[in-house]
Amino acid sequence: MNPRIILFDTTLRDGEQSPGVSLNLKQKIEIGKALAELGIDVIEAGFPVTSPGDFQAVQSLAKEVKGVTIAALARANRKDIEVAWEAIRLAESPRIHTFIATSDIHLKYKLKKSREEVLELAREAVKFAKSLCPDVEFSAEDATRSDWKYLSEVVLEVVKAGAKTVNIPDTVGYTVPQEYFALISFLIEKLKEEGYEEALRSGELRISVHCHNDLGLAVANSLSAILAGATQVEGTINGIGERAGNAALEEVIMALKTRSDFFKTKLGYEPELRVNTRMIVPVSQLVSKHTGMVVQPNKAIVGANAFAHESGIHQHGVLCERSTYEIINPIDVGWTGSAIVLGKHSGRHAISFKLESMGWKLNKELLDKIFERYRVEVKDFLRQVDDSYLEGIVLDILLEDEYRYRLLSSQVISVLSGSLKPIAQVEIEDRKEGRRVSVGLGVGPIDAAYKAVASALGYSFDGENNKNSLRLVDFHIDALSGGTSAEGICGVILEDPSGHRSAGLGRDGDIVIASLKALIKALNRLEAYKEKGENLKASL
Ligand code: KIV
Ligand code: ZN
Repeated sequence: MNPRIILFDTTLRDGEQSPGVSLNLKQKIEIGKALAELGIDVIEAGFPVTSPGDFQAVQSLAKEVKGVTIAALARANRKDIEVAWEAIRLAESPRIHTFIATSDIHLKYKLKKSREEVLELAREAVKFAKSLCPDVEFSAEDATRSDWKYLSEVVLEVVKAGAKTVNIPDTVGYTVPQEYFALISFLIEKLKEEGYEEALRSGELRISVHCHNDLGLAVANSLSAILAGATQVEGTINGIGERAGNAALEEVIMALKTRSDFFKTKLGYEPELRVNTRMIVPVSQLVSKHTGMVVQPNKAIVGANAFAHESGIHQHGVLCERSTYEIINPIDVGWTGSAIVLGKHSGRHAISFKLESMGWKLNKELLDKIFERYRVEVKDFLRQVDDSYLEGIVLDILLEDEYRYRLLSSQVISVLSGSLKPIAQVEIEDRKEGRRVSVGLGVGPIDAAYKAVASALGYSFDGENNKNSLRLVDFHIDALSGGTSAEGICGVILEDPSGHRSAGLGRDGDIVIASLKALIKALNRLEAYKEKGENLKASL
């Protein structure tokens, strides 16, 4: 039987070593349970000797997280190992993970020990750990910068001493895939020569890999090591960790799954994983929330843009057949689906798809008009276009002549200091109720102007819960060119109590006027939709 690939997650140990990250006990337990649900085999819960808090966290995880192996890290000395064991001994399946560096650079400058001394410490540490716990992992820190022959001697000694897993870390993210492949192959060959072939095949003995991402190669190196025969892979969720981080486990998992054809051909068997991939995105988001480490939008698998399509050609392809531009079904990793994002490069297909999903069934002539207005009035001015802007164009084409409000005049006074507040006065023509005039005080001139409009037309933006209360979902201003004379463009998205959104863009050399134009546009579209939107949709 061929060995399964064991997934070893060190988000709570190496991941927590990311600069600025500190997880409390509750957060660690929550992440631990989510990792178990994801199907991780081994959770490295922490490094108990480093602090009473770490000890307590590892102990709690050992008691509370079921269905996985709980590992605790320990340097190669009796005290660390005893403390690690004390922390994990009540786990369903405990593992002591002990390590010592094997590279000359670490031996000389950090450990100040000879190769013989380190070999002896490694052997003794594993023997002692084994006397406490049947499952012992040994890591040769900085393995990829170690002398290969010496490293192989250490590996053989720790296996003889009882280590079931021998980890070959690329501690400083220095190796490259071909070199790592050769190193892992070399070590496996040495073990086979010593009679461990059957143990490796059955999974009783495993070579593990643990890659850091200093050259952006952590996942590639991990996969290369698997191809060379490693059967445990270590990493973290979202790739968090020291410096540039660790191998992102979600990427390793999805590479093995998505390219199982390739791995099968190379390994002669399909690497088996017991993962519920639909938990990947929820776990990623949980880790991001608790660590405060934002996932970059273009991050593979779990980034917000990983399944978002903006360009017209790609949108067309995905709308015809998802697999044209997606190698993974986003639903399989926990997203709700692919995202068609409206932006600068979007084309007719995406626009018609979006409008149809909002209930607008449009003929070609109308669609051409919408696309033309989208091209000229919207797409160059917004980085991402909310669907409500698109609906706004439809309403402009069909109902603009009937829009309710028109800004006749406005005046705003800014205040430098003291107790006075900026004040705005607006005059608006309302087709239904006649001319309306009102004033508003605000934190700044735009706030004052918006309050004046709200008061003139009977809306509120202050979170009051009534039928005229509106939520300002988005408000932003950009300059259309450089310099103080640049024209400003303001985008506003409002949401009414029913959840309907309405957007407006306004341009002017005066940013207060641009903001007012955007608001009046959004209000007009909102009123028009309220009055006629649903009937219009049904009549098209
Ligand atoms: O990067 C590394 O070498 C480690 C070991 C302690 C496994 O994290
Ligand atoms: Zn590490």
